[in-house]
Amino acid sequence: MFELALAGTTRHYHFDITYKNVTRLCHTKSIVTVNGQFPGPRIVAREGDRILIKVINNVQNNISIHWHGIRQLQTGWADGPAYVTQCPIQTGQSYVYNYTITGQRGTLFWHAHISWLRSTLYGPLIILPKKGARYPFAKPHKEVPIIFGEWWNADPEAVISQALQSGGGPNVSDAYTMNGLPGPLYNCSAKDTFKLKVKARKIYLLRLINAALNDQLFFSIANHTLTVVEVDAVYVKPFSTNTILIAPGQTTNVLLKTKSHYPNATFLMMARPYATGLGTFDNSTVAGVLEYKTPPNTHRSNSTVSLKNLPLLKPVLPALNDTSFATKFTNKLRSLASAEFPANVPKKVDRHFFFTVGLGTNPCEKNQTCQGPNGTKFSASVNNVSFALPDTALLQSYFFRQSNGVYTADFPTSPLKPFNYTGAPPNNTIVNSGTKMVVIPYNTSVEVVMQDTSILAAENHPLHLHGFNFFVVGQGFGNFDPKIDPANFNLLDPVERNTVGVPSGGWVAIRFLADNPGVWFMHCHLEVHTSWGLRMAWVVLDGKLTNQKLLPPPFDLPKC
Ligand code: C2O
Repeated sequence: MFELALAGTTRHYHFDITYKNVTRLCHTKSIVTVNGQFPGPRIVAREGDRILIKVINNVQNNISIHWHGIRQLQTGWADGPAYVTQCPIQTGQSYVYNYTITGQRGTLFWHAHISWLRSTLYGPLIILPKKGARYPFAKPHKEVPIIFGEWWNADPEAVISQALQSGGGPNVSDAYTMNGLPGPLYNCSAKDTFKLKVKARKIYLLRLINAALNDQLFFSIANHTLTVVEVDAVYVKPFSTNTILIAPGQTTNVLLKTKSHYPNATFLMMARPYATGLGTFDNSTVAGVLEYKTPPNTHRSNSTVSLKNLPLLKPVLPALNDTSFATKFTNKLRSLASAEFPANVPKKVDRHFFFTVGLGTNPCEKNQTCQGPNGTKFSASVNNVSFALPDTALLQSYFFRQSNGVYTADFPTSPLKPFNYTGAPPNNTIVNSGTKMVVIPYNTSVEVVMQDTSILAAENHPLHLHGFNFFVVGQGFGNFDPKIDPANFNLLDPVERNTVGVPSGGWVAIRFLADNPGVWFMHCHLEVHTSWGLRMAWVVLDGKLTNQKLLPPPFDLPKC
């Protein structure tokens, strides 16, 4: 009874996957969209709500949608990564994603989780606090989602398939976008500029989402300070900064306090990459405009015409490879750790894992010329395993006890051949391929140290875990030292999130409680690295109680 009274609303959505002609940078092309919208529609719900999204596939591609950051307690069937928790939805088929939002509130997003289709299939997923519940910060005058994306004039599916063929790096994007718009610094795009019109003396909550495929971004607004209050749908101790860093897969809520007087200027909001590693990248800049509405009762005419003549101020962004900024910024992120929003950091650890993450190579096939390092093909791995997706779904194979020939349970818990991970590169850079998973009992308390490798080049990798939030208890540069480094772990107020950057040439330590039965993907959220195999999966077994078991699959679960 009491449960029922507290239960949230059920919200229904229709995601019709269709083609749509869209023009950016003076290129018109047919893209895959949800309901003909680009970026896709917003999902707005409250904590405790049940969400039912019917996805109908009307395009030629196979489709699956992931609700990035949603815990999916007992409902792994609705998580979305293709060939992990489901077979893709084939042309003409549909699937209803059905899940309840439990114990989470804040900004997340949804995106396609198959090949590179998320380049156009993405949108905000906003979870408001329960009715009557308040934010632990000043109530904003307005809330504005800003979702960053990456635009290719070519078909992104062709870009990645060509790269996987040749073994080289994929062509970089032609633009970054804010809410789908590249802005005035690109050819032909002044009319495609995101404008945020604000009033003076107000607080705006910007819900920033990085849905770009391959690039972390610095973001800043000229002459304004931002107060960070939440990341990955978890509140943090507020701190102010001029610039934020946001990796693909991460979300950041910031408060923007507007000026007390109507300024005689317009302000650019800009984002451009933070890039490490050896690859080429899109080093262009997306800009939007922060424009103060003409105050009432001034004789400035009530139109934007007069505003157009105002000087345009640009923010100063860190250098493209400013790792020192990145480190300082991430060190400021702390859980709120209040009575109402405690940080339930696992204090004891049942299982320790040490994962190397980074790039490597695959040999070139006979009679082919390859465009990767020294005539090889680019690959990427965790503990030297480049994860191969099966042609059925892992969760089904697990649930129906048909894992034979699909996956093995022997994912290495630490590198089989330890080496100097951040030192001079080894002679042999070849990775192994396999579909291996880690199997752990329900409620295992897990620590994973993720160590970047310099096999091809040191690089920051934003690692994303499905099905859980984790606490970032430590990070550092060089090789992780199990004897010294754990003494400095923060177990009081470490940031809790679902995607963390493994520092370039360093390591990060995370902890989580495996209290969600199912199969959970973990991968680099730089899509090119995922494509190359920087991915693995966990099996969390059922617990004894009914509410500790994975529910049976829905009747309409897609077939491969
Ligand atoms: Cu946002 Cu597995 O991804």
